[in-house]
Amino acid sequence: MLEIVEEILKIKKEFAKESEIISDIKEFEQLRIKYLGRKGIISSYFKQLSKLPSENIPFVGKELNSLKNYIDSKLSEIQKKFTVIQKTEEKLDISLPGFKRFLGKKHPITKIMEEIQSIFSSMGFDIAEGPDIETDYYNFEALNIPPEHPAREEHDTFFLMNDMLLRTHTSPVQIRVMEKKRPPIRIIAPGRVFRRDTPDATHSPIFTQVEGLYVDKSVTFGELKGVILSFARAMFGKDMRIRFRPSYFQFTEPSAEYDFLCIFCKGKGCKICKWVGWVEISGAGMVDPEVFKFVNIDPEMYSGFAFGMGVERIAMFRYQINDIRLFYENDIRFLDQF
Ligand code: DAH
Repeated sequence: MLEIVEEILKIKKEFAKESEIISDIKEFEQLRIKYLGRKGIISSYFKQLSKLPSENIPFVGKELNSLKNYIDSKLSEIQKKFTVIQKTEEKLDISLPGFKRFLGKKHPITKIMEEIQSIFSSMGFDIAEGPDIETDYYNFEALNIPPEHPAREEHDTFFLMNDMLLRTHTSPVQIRVMEKKRPPIRIIAPGRVFRRDTPDATHSPIFTQVEGLYVDKSVTFGELKGVILSFARAMFGKDMRIRFRPSYFQFTEPSAEYDFLCIFCKGKGCKICKWVGWVEISGAGMVDPEVFKFVNIDPEMYSGFAFGMGVERIAMFRYQINDIRLFYENDIRFLDQF
């Protein structure tokens, strides 16, 4: 037998012996380097291959390869054993401090929003949605606010390119729904709205509204009041009272703003309602016939009411929060309280 082949056999035996007595991962690493390292035994034999007479090269090469494979598989067996041992040791280290796990919660605005939606669903309102990025047409024009009209100034608008803008209210969803659906229509449209307001305790450039719309034959202002009152009582309890004050919106006629009785002082005046006894929620009114014309609904045949709702306002009132910015700062100490 060739001398080199004998040597290969010897190496195999030696390796087998040495691998038996490996007792930790460090010794394992030394063994691996000794045999399979770049300057290790196997590699030095491969380097000698070319010096052999050419007829012997294929045979010796094969032997070397099979030795290498043998060492390889043996080493990975040993390595597996050690990682299992290591893992079990880790598992058993009961002196390690545990990881504290935090339970996530719903954001207060989400909670209030879900409550609002469920109250209106129970009154038969469907949920409608519209895009945050709107066109001038839906946000203003079809709501009876023509170009250059001073009413636009009340909406400090973020304009985008190509006549697009960030919607300043959820009222454009009224138009989108009425374009697609014929009466009877009974929807609420929750969503984000955007205004170029400098943040302070009561203003935020992004906030949340819920729009309401009910169109059918002979819908009345009385029904509007009934719906808002039922909502207010479902949300704040049986003693809740509401009041409507005359106001003006381009897309409703007549228009009103509505307030909820301050539940903390029952109307007597306190810090929460700023000594007014009432808390302003938003606007409402009967859908203006001009708006019906934009969506091809016959104002002679149908009437409707619409209302807005400031979700942050309701949440601030419910949870006695005096700074709207708290909702957006994501301070865990604040969010954890809901
Ligand atoms: N869109 C109005 C706003 O953001 C609120 C509003 C007023 C909505 C009257 C209505 C409404 O649907 O009828 O200030």
